[in-house]
Formats: sequence, C-alpha cells, structure tokens
Amino acid sequence: MIDPFGRSITYLRVSVTDRCDLRCVYCMAEDMTFLPRSELLSLEELDCLCGAFIRLGVTKIRITGGEPLVRRDVTTLFRSLAARLGSGSHGGLRELTLTTNGTQLARHAEALHAAGVRRVNVSLDTLDAAKFAAITRWGRLDRVLDGIFAARAAGLAVKINAVALRDLNEDEFDAMLAWCGSHGFDLCLIETMPMGEIGAHRSDQYLPLSLVRSRLRRRWTLAETSYSTGGPARYFDVAETGTRIGFITPMTHNFCETCNRVRLTCTGTLFMCLGQDDAADLRRVLRAGADDAALEEAILAAVARKPKGHDFIIDRCRDAPAVARHMSVTGG
Ligand code: 5AD
Ligand code: SF4
Repeated sequence: MIDPFGRSITYLRVSVTDRCDLRCVYCMAEDMTFLPRSELLSLEELDCLCGAFIRLGVTKIRITGGEPLVRRDVTTLFRSLAARLGSGSHGGLRELTLTTNGTQLARHAEALHAAGVRRVNVSLDTLDAAKFAAITRWGRLDRVLDGIFAARAAGLAVKINAVALRDLNEDEFDAMLAWCGSHGFDLCLIETMPMGEIGAHRSDQYLPLSLVRSRLRRRWTLAETSYSTGGPARYFDVAETGTRIGFITPMTHNFCETCNRVRLTCTGTLFMCLGQDDAADLRRVLRAGADDAALEEAILAAVARKPKGHDFIIDRCRDAPAVARHMSVTGG
C-alpha cells in the first residue's frame, strides 16, 4: 500500500478497547465516557480485518488501547494473529507486539510469549510510587513493576515508554535511564500531544524533548544510531548502559514524513493519521457482508486519502485540543 505522498504503509496499530484501568492526567479526563460494549467489533472481526491488512502488505501489528489487556479474552486475538506470523521471507506478518500500562501484565506475560509475542512496550512515566499514583490518578507502581519483571522472565524484550511532563517527571529521566540500563530495557521518551480534553492545560504539562536530551547529555554519552523498530522514535546508544534511549518528538520534530502506519479502532474505524479526523468505517463494510476483495478495496480507498501529517500545536493562547478524540481511541 502506497499513500499519496509515496509512503509505504506496512504497520497497523489496533486499539482493541478505549477503556483503561488508569486515568493518566495527560491522556484522559478523570471522568470519561467510554463506548458502549455493543459498539465493539468482536475479536473474530478484528482478526478478519487484520487479515485483510496483512494481505495488502502490513508486516507489523501493534495491539494497543486504552489498555489492551483489560479487554476480555484478548489472548484469543493474540493467538489468532500470531498464527498469521510468517517466516518473513516473502511478505506476511513479521511482528506482533503490544503497548500496555503493565497493570495486568504479570497475569498475561506467559500467554503472550507462548502466542508468539517477543517484544512489549510498557508505559511507565515515573519510578516514584507517590508520583505514579498522582499521574495515573490511582495506579499502583508495584503492580506495574511486577508486570514488567514477569514479562522479562517470560522472555519478552521490554521497552519502557515515558511521556515527558513538565514538573511531574522532568527531574527523573537520569534515574529512569539508569534503572532501565541496569535491567536491560530500552527507554523511549514521548512528547505530550494535544489529543482530547483532559481537564487541564496541555501547555502546563508540555516539555520539549530537545531540552531533555541536552540535559541528559550532561551525564550520559549518547551516540545517534540508525536503529529503528519501525515506529517514529529516533534512537541513541547510551555508552554507559549498553541500552538505547529513543525520542518521539511530534512537537519539536515532526515525524510524519516517514509515517508508515494507520490505526484501526475497536469499532472498526480506520484513522489514517493520529492527528486528523478523516476516517473510514470498515465495520460497515465488514458487516455488509463484503468479501475479501471488497474489504481490501475499502482499505485501499482509505489509504489513498492518508493526509500529509498532523497539525499539533501546544500553546497558551490556543488551548483547544488539535483533535477531539483521546489517544485511547486510536492507541499510541
Ligand atoms: N500524548 C503523548 N502520549 C500519550 N499517551 C497517551 N496519551 C498521550 C498524549 N496525549 C501515551 C501513553 C502510552 C502511549 C500509548 O501513548 O503514555 O505510552
Ligand atoms: Fe490508560 Fe495509557 Fe491513557 Fe494512561 S496513557 S490512561 S495507561 S491509555
């Protein structure tokens, strides 16, 4: 699949639920209205849509949410998708992975590995239990740490994702990098994006990673690498730890020109861009009894409308979000 800007679309992110057991202050408002369960695609329907994307050239699928591990029976979906993993030599699915907040990971780690998952991204913005409770509004750090170590014990490579937040965790990145390094985890820092109403000012939370990186360089030797996991992060080798640090910088350095992904929600809506509203209703196509060819045609028609990129802006004078939906609808 090639989009109008010549970008090859090989990466599908699938949000299997918009619900979450946490309410991170930069992600959600405290009181959120979630989709009625009757709106959701079944796991079989999600698997069927993924199959169409794979036939069209998708080689990597990331399961996200909300929190994907709160969806009932989600391991069934991992198993059916993993059965589509090929040898990689002539197309087909090459990688199946997930982004999780880690609260339920201890319970799922072995099943995920047994299904064929080899890497997991765990969102963790602080190593301080009190701050963790404040940022997530009620989460328990020890549960997430248990999940992370269960994942490692099960044989999953762990990457830690942290959203950089002014005042909240900005004094912690040295400690987090040291901790990740000592456990063999890569760390990826993310700039907050203006998605959805959160009941607070984004501009109070926003911290440019250009600043964070120059602060980190006082203590760590960072060498730019061409390493990539197929996502938007730019990675540096950390000489002192032997691990890597990545930076996802939608605000200070737009990553759209190399975008290779589209996003499917739990209701079967396909968003071609995280930061734009245009979407395609694949549930309608699927439930109208479309055959493989008709489904593929609907996906190709959507990809043909993929916009050039997002128009995210965070500033005091324009406090409305750039898009009304929260990150939890389309997944990170
Ligand atoms: N901006 C940036 N990152 C966000 N995440 C959730 N909401 C936002 C936002 N508004 C992050 C989560 C997780 C990933 C899925 O996206 O912390 O790491
Ligand atoms: Fe849940 Fe992740 Fe959003 Fe936090 S960032 S509320 S863990 S979806």
